[in-house]
Amino acid sequence: MSLEEKVSRLLRPEVRAISAYHVQSAEGLLKLDAMENPYTWPLELQRRWAERLQEAHLNRYPDAVAGLLKSKLRAVFSIPDDMAVLLGNGSDEVIQVIIMALARPGAVVAAPEPTFVMYRGLALALSMEFVGVPLKPADFSLDEQAMLDVVRERQPAVTFLAWPNNPTGNLFDEEGVIRIIEASPGLVVVDEAYYPFALKTFMDRLAVYDNLLIMRTLSKQGLAGLRLGFLAGRPEWLEEFDKLRLPYNINTLTQMSVAFILDHKDVLDDQATLIRQEREVLLQDLQSLPGVTAWPSASNFILFRPESRPGPEIHAGLKELGVLIKDLHGTSPLLENCLRVTVSTPEENGRFLAALKKTL
Ligand SMILES: Cc1ncc(COP(=O)(O)O)c(C=O)c1O
Repeated sequence: MSLEEKVSRLLRPEVRAISAYHVQSAEGLLKLDAMENPYTWPLELQRRWAERLQEAHLNRYPDAVAGLLKSKLRAVFSIPDDMAVLLGNGSDEVIQVIIMALARPGAVVAAPEPTFVMYRGLALALSMEFVGVPLKPADFSLDEQAMLDVVRERQPAVTFLAWPNNPTGNLFDEEGVIRIIEASPGLVVVDEAYYPFALKTFMDRLAVYDNLLIMRTLSKQGLAGLRLGFLAGRPEWLEEFDKLRLPYNINTLTQMSVAFILDHKDVLDDQATLIRQEREVLLQDLQSLPGVTAWPSASNFILFRPESRPGPEIHAGLKELGVLIKDLHGTSPLLENCLRVTVSTPEENGRFLAALKKTL
């Protein structure tokens, strides 16, 4: 039997059918494709952080329950005392754990689309059915009636609502989200990955809805390299999910580093404030370009569509000029010729804009 035959005989067809999460090489390029925070920490803070890490015992396993880190997260992010917290190696891992726990035969995962690709990818990888409900094409708002129809007819085990949504950048109507939570027999995960740039949350509604879970990540706020995401919600759910979390999934350096910087959260918050301000400047600059449609954003990125040339050509042209953004053409019928750019420093945004003008 050839190796190819062995591979297709042994592997689950679902695994064969999905494609790997593609990360573009950014070598030598200005990296504006992944919603990273461009700012570093003041030198004195970097020095104290490095000093703190010298206390790490790398010969030992990490704190299995990440007790210190969790208590700091609870305080800093106002997680209600009676809610549980589950930590993931990035919120990607949290999504995986939730889906693993719900992957009964025939169970459905739902989300509006386009949205963050991992909801669909992980659902399919774990043999669940994924139902995507198209957003409204004009402004990417939620098609509430279509969502409610899916909730009623397909009874999703979980509905993911990225709030704000990636890659469209907008916040869905809050009352509409509430109606979906209220109508759902299954779980609703409000994914607040971009909270620092929207400053709106459902955290205080955890007490009201027992099917609501709130997911956050530290990635967009400046700690992408540490990989830490978390879920907050009723212990009845999270204690079950926790059984699927791999032991010691949050490594010692991540635990120590995040706990350290949360004591200086104002540094991260000030950076987010700068990014929010620059987002408005960049949006205006993009909107003032002839033949460019750019959508308002409550996130740290902007979705735009050049009308004069195909999106993939603009993407390639920018790359030739040393700027890497995200090409979304072909990922959804709603995103024809669309591109997504991360909001960065004034200097880097300026370099992007200059390159874009040349490319247009
Ligand atoms: C809406 C949303 N949720 C979750 C994630 C995953 O973030 P991480 O795994 O870095 O925590 C992303 C990343 O782009 C995202 O856009």
